[in-house]
Parts: sequence; C-alpha cells; structure tokens
Amino acid sequence: MRAAMIRSALLLTSPSALAVTSLAATVQTFSVDGLSLQYAQVANGSNTDLRMRLAAPTTPGWGAIAIGSEMAGSLFFVLYPSTDMTKTTVSVRTAPREVMPTPIEGISYRVMNSSIANGMMMADVVCYGCTTWNGGSLNTMATQQDFIYAMGPGQAVADGDSNSAIIRKHNRRGFFNINTADSQFTAAEAPMTPFIPVGAAAPAGSSSSASSGSSGSSGSEDMDYTYMLVHIHAAMFCLVWLLIAPAALWALRFASVRAHYILQILTVLLVVPAFAVAVVMSRRTPYSSFDTYHQKIGITVFAVTIVQFFFGALQHTIFKRQEIRHLISSTHMPLALPAWSP
Ligand SMILES: *[C@@H]1O[C@H](CO)[C@@H](O)[C@H](O)[C@H]1NC(C)=O
Ligand SMILES: *[C@@H]1O[C@H](CO)[C@@H](O)[C@H](O)[C@H]1NC(C)=O
Repeated sequence: MRAAMIRSALLLTSPSALAVTSLAATVQTFSVDGLSLQYAQVANGSNTDLRMRLAAPTTPGWGAIAIGSEMAGSLFFVLYPSTDMTKTTVSVRTAPREVMPTPIEGISYRVMNSSIANGMMMADVVCYGCTTWNGGSLNTMATQQDFIYAMGPGQAVADGDSNSAIIRKHNRRGFFNINTADSQFTAAEAPMTPFIPVGAAAPAGSSSSASSGSSGSSGSEDMDYTYMLVHIHAAMFCLVWLLIAPAALWALRFASVRAHYILQILTVLLVVPAFAVAVVMSRRTPYSSFDTYHQKIGITVFAVTIVQFFFGALQHTIFKRQEIRHLISSTHMPLALPAWSP
C-alpha cells in the first residue's frame, strides 16, 4: 500500500523532474506590476549578446531594470516615453552610488523595436557583448545573477527623447534573480526574435511552452517589507548599543550591580530579536550568504554578547552563593573592559 503510494507519487512528479533537468536554453522572465524583463544570452563569436524585451507601465513616469545587486556599478536599462508618446526611449546608464544613473560610455546596443500601447512601454533591446562594462560585470553562467528594478515616482519624464533625460527618484525598487546559465543560446538556436510578446496568451494546447519561458525569477516581492526590517534592525540596535548597554556599564560603576544586570538582561532581550530580524532581512537581499563585513562583525558581536551574558549570569549566581567573585570576573569583565574603561 505504502509502496504503491510512493510509486504513484513518483509517477506524478516525474514529468516536472524531466523538465527541470532539460538542457535546452529558455528565455528567462521576471515581472512585477507591469515592469517586466525577458532575457536571453546569445553567443556572438567570442562575445555574449544580451537580447531583452523590457516593458514598464507609463504611469510611474519611468521604469528600470539593472544588472547588479545595488545601484553602484550596475548596468541600467531605463525606459521612458518619447516626447510624442509613441516610442519608448531606452537609456543605458550606470551610477557610482545611490544617485541618478547617467548614460554609460563604451556600451553598444540597439533598440530593435519599441512601442507604447495601453499604458505600457515596450522595447526590444540587443546589448552587444554587454557582459562587462565600466564598473561592473555579469556572470553569464549563474543560477542566480542579481538584478534590481525600480519605478518612478509618478511624474512624467521631461525631454523624453533625450538619452540623458533627468529622472526623478524612484518610489519603488527591489531585487530579483535571473538564471543566466539556463538562458545561453547558441547563435544557431537563438530565434531572431527570442522575445515572447508581453501579456500574450500561451498558444492553444501548449501549456508547457508557457511554463518553460517563465522560469528563473525569484524574490520579486515588494521590497517595502525588507526596508521596514532594515529600519527595525537599525532602531533596535541603536537603542541597545547607544542607550541600554552603556547605561548598564554606567550602572555598574555608579549605581548598583542589580541595575547593571537588569539592564543587561534587557540588552539580551532586545539583541536576540534584533539579530533574528537581521537574519530574516539578510536572507531577503543579495547579501544572503552573510559574507559582508557588516554581517560578520554583527554575528561576532552577537556571539560575544551571548557569551558575556552567560558569564555574567554565572558570576552573579556564584558570587551570591560563595562570595568568590574573582574567578568568573576574570572572564566576564575583560570582555567588557574596552567599553567600560574611561
Ligand atoms: C555580433 O556583434 C556585433 C557587434 O559586436 C554586431 O554588429 C552583430 O550584429 C552581432 N551579430 C548578431 C547576429 O547579432
Ligand atoms: C514591434 O512590437 C509590436 C508590439 O509588440 C509588434 O506588434 C510588432 O510586430 C513589432 N515589430 C517588429 C518589427 O518586431
């Protein structure tokens, strides 16, 4: 009975398992609230060209998709309507940090087709050899290449025919990934137009072709929640390390041991959830492998805090019972000394 159930479960899952292991390249897609990307890499001699269909709603004023994990150094494809509202301008840009991206030099691209219809901008773009650019590069063989996106504040872009038009600060942004390894087409197999029309229904009777074109994106959820976590994380740690923990050290010196440990218990009660928030938040960003200095230092401080709390609690119990303070003091105090000596 049980074996039969397992066998039928295997039979049911095997078609999708086959689809996952298929080696054929597929056009990778991403979409959030009308902003969308269809992405294919095509071998061109020793170069790799990027063929993309980009679409964005006109209401925000502009929409952008960029290759990279943060504004600094990413390669931006910014869409906004031409002045006569008939074509979509594609401005390829970069930014040195969190400032308005400006047109990048040394990138060769062509807009093959562009239109505006029903409040949607659309452009088919080929970017020749755009795997490295001034300030960044793209991993053409990644299962999760980082991308970011943004949409404008709802204000029309003035001077929409210009490649260097001023765009006002986004009010939405976020991260996503594209499986570039699965989107590598040879020149021969790449369709001349590898772009699936935006919003097109799947051809009748071929539901599998619809799903094969929509793999590879994740993390498309709105970033507001992640940014809220960033603020909670910052607020909690500021409260702990700028107010409560210093007050606890001050208390030990000028008030009482009792005030010290009550404040330090409060410290730990806040540090544990604040650390949990940091972990949840990090996992939602491109920094989910915890290898930045900020994260490493944070994890170290968290570990030291817990060890310190443990020694403090131990010292308190033993001191009360046996009046032998010096033994554990020699472990509890030195860790705090850098902070507490004048
Ligand atoms: C290959 O790249 C060159 C520019 O580097 C471009 O002119 C040419 O059209 C590309 N070939 C194809 C088939 O897209
Ligand atoms: C350009 O895009 C429009 C809208 O998707 C489409 O109807 C048209 O056939 C395209 N033209 C070319 C030359 O690809």
